Amino acid sequence: MSKRFYVTTPIYYVNDVPHIGHAYTTVAADALARYKRLKGCDVLMLTGTDEHGRKVEKAAEAAGMSPGELADSVVSRFKELWSKLDISNDDFIRTTEERHRRAVVRIWETVAARGDIYLGEYEDWYCTPCESFLTESQLREGRCPDCLRPVEKLREPSYFFRLSRYTEPLLRHIEENPSFIEPEYRRNEIVSFLKGGLRDLSISRTGFSWGVPVPGDERHVMYVWFDALTNYLTAAGYPDKPRWWPADVHIIGKDILRFHAVYWPAFLMSAGLELPRRIFAHGWWTVEGRKMSKSLGNVVDPCEVIEDYGADAFRYFLLREVPFGMDGDFSTAALEGRINGDLANDLGNLLSRTVTMVAKYTGGVVPALAASRDREAEAELKAAFAGLAGRLDAAMERLAFNEALSALWDVVRRMNAYVDRAAPWRERDEEVLRNVLAVLAEGLRIVSVCVAPFMPGASTRMRRQLGLTAAPGLFDDELRWGGGCEGAVVVKGAPLFPRVGSGGK
Ligand code: ME8
Ligand code: MG
Repeated sequence: MSKRFYVTTPIYYVNDVPHIGHAYTTVAADALARYKRLKGCDVLMLTGTDEHGRKVEKAAEAAGMSPGELADSVVSRFKELWSKLDISNDDFIRTTEERHRRAVVRIWETVAARGDIYLGEYEDWYCTPCESFLTESQLREGRCPDCLRPVEKLREPSYFFRLSRYTEPLLRHIEENPSFIEPEYRRNEIVSFLKGGLRDLSISRTGFSWGVPVPGDERHVMYVWFDALTNYLTAAGYPDKPRWWPADVHIIGKDILRFHAVYWPAFLMSAGLELPRRIFAHGWWTVEGRKMSKSLGNVVDPCEVIEDYGADAFRYFLLREVPFGMDGDFSTAALEGRINGDLANDLGNLLSRTVTMVAKYTGGVVPALAASRDREAEAELKAAFAGLAGRLDAAMERLAFNEALSALWDVVRRMNAYVDRAAPWRERDEEVLRNVLAVLAEGLRIVSVCVAPFMPGASTRMRRQLGLTAAPGLFDDELRWGGGCEGAVVVKGAPLFPRVGSGGK
């Protein structure tokens, strides 16, 4: 039986349409999911939408729609984007679904039965854009410390979760499981937050009705984060048979780490459920050096990027440009630089030169490898390929997507140097020439497998030109050097990545 792997993205609010920040998290989760499938795992990749709460209700009022109508229309925008971006999610969860309502009601009842819920009154601040409760001392110049927008004062009856009980258990869990929260600098932030002690958490609201009613007291709706976090359990099969629980990794942005690394594990501990194995908080994208915001009018529409540059180049840029965990800047110049350099020059040219030479010198059929004709150059190249699988595995285990790609490009650049050095167009020895072409095709075959998690479309296009079946087999088999292309009939195609910008777009 193959190993299970469950990876999630946040479920995105439907108050607004998707932008590159949402695309980023989802592309990262998708690359990981695709890699794990190549490794032979049985994968559940989950994404979806967070549809309840005051923020969405307000956005619907402003748009003159019901919250349900707004959600439906934004959900189709998200689904359209995921399809254009080649996202391979196995499920798409909406918090307005019946399966989810059942799960949230069940976890509420379980936590209540543990004695962890009591009725009180909430009197303090609330940030609707962040859907977060804030104390006076947390405010920054009277505003939300996270989004810097105005907050409102609430005074209403509320159910509370005994979060204060979980300070010590959470600290212990983090200490005993160093990879529970990553990167390490984020873990340290959570540890110091916990060391400050936890207050009980308000988990219901009464001022509006767009949410899941509290069982037995329908004047209250559940706090949207209590509702939203539970999505990960719903999709795992809770409350029936949570076959996929615990999740292997929740991939999120650093903005919502506290909800995932403090509240969520506390709810789970209370309900007697296992904790997710890992929570990875990535960094923040700015655009051309500035914070992305509607008021600045610089929000990047991922559909336009895909329209202009293609899904593969966009995915590559997002994962290659910035170490996962760090903040990054999105700019047209940086994107075009990556496309023209890494993609068009290094990879695209290598493929087109190889295919052209196979067509010209060996009638379009990839010759057999002939190890007896290997020289120092071939031996060196093969040694680089021999270390590749290990380097990729190690990087992917740490979600270091940029390192995986840079290890791969290291090999791609060696192949380019190899073509120049081997200079097949000058080679007089027929057997040596045939071996050089076989080595190039074999190297590209392996590269086509390694790019598949990151650029599934480009992988398929490469393989078609190399005369291979569309989908690679298992990673560990495919990464073994030897004869994978022998006899394949190459098909010359359009450039894998056309040059862009002033150079040619
Ligand atoms: O917070 N850079 O939803 P949300 C990088 N519904 N990532 C970004 C980004 C940026 N500039 N902007 C957004 C919510 N993101 C809740 C989540 S989960 C149980 C509930 C990404 O629509 C990043 O993943 O505000 C961030 O965590 C998420 O979008 C927030 O999406
Ligand atoms: Mg947000």
